[in-house]
Amino acid sequence: MKGIILAGGSGSRLYPITKVYSKQLAIIYDKPLIYYPLSVLMLGGIKDILIICDEDSIHLYQKLFNSGKHLGLNISYEIQKAPNGIAEAFIIGENFIGNDHVSLILGDNIFYGKLDFFYEALKQKNGATIFAYQVSDPERYGVVEFDDNGKAISIEEKPKFPKSNYAVPGLYIYDNQVIEIAKELKPSKRGELEITDVNLTYLKMDKLKVKKIGRGVAWLDTGTPEALLKASNFFGVIEDRQGLKVACIEEIAFYKGFISKDDFKNLINELPKSTYRDYLEKVLNEFDV
Ligand code: G1P
Repeated sequence: MKGIILAGGSGSRLYPITKVYSKQLAIIYDKPLIYYPLSVLMLGGIKDILIICDEDSIHLYQKLFNSGKHLGLNISYEIQKAPNGIAEAFIIGENFIGNDHVSLILGDNIFYGKLDFFYEALKQKNGATIFAYQVSDPERYGVVEFDDNGKAISIEEKPKFPKSNYAVPGLYIYDNQVIEIAKELKPSKRGELEITDVNLTYLKMDKLKVKKIGRGVAWLDTGTPEALLKASNFFGVIEDRQGLKVACIEEIAFYKGFISKDDFKNLINELPKSTYRDYLEKVLNEFDV
């Protein structure tokens, strides 16, 4: 299974934050936003990861993660020249995906809580799996309609009159056919290759699973300054209360066995004196006990 993080888009709603840098580098409490989606892929056991971003930001992501080797990952980078839509990720990532399956996560999507719904879906061998999450403002998202048996029967992108409160979060799992499907797409009215059209193609072929994400999982939005603040507060409260960090990619790499204890020690030694480093030292010391 390959993983793609799409960190594209102009982020115009976050101007002026996004005038100089990519939205997915905005700070959520104590770390860049992209750490959160990266941690989801890592928790799913995915080590081969492609980050797709715009030309101006690529060096920033490379500076942040390098080859990913220090995290036991293999991270590569590609440029999306213009915000041509989410589905373009599979065309840009064709060589990277190769003959494999692929999970795509949007670089501005945050998931927190029990991620079993994702781990289960990763076992799926054929077709596509997407998720459905209840929100109070479905018109801002892709919206799934279910029949009385709980089977998905339609998906609409940002409908004026949503047929349900179930939004499709930016986390998707596809078999290899997604590359060909993406290549066949025509741009939508907003000029983008829509991920909803990819999902509709799988739905028509009867190869789409839509799993509802229940209570106890937070899917947070980061589209506006208020949403950024709310997400920061949310993680500030949790981290402070528990003394545990969320989306701490170094800790995850260690606990998942992607890196050895020595690698973890070396990694910590490279970090500047900071509360982040203090935390990782604590993780290491507690492991030693
Ligand atoms: C995109 C997708 C939409 C999905 C959303 C999740 O919206 O088009 O289907 O529900 O991501 O964040 P956009 O970011 O283009 O507004």
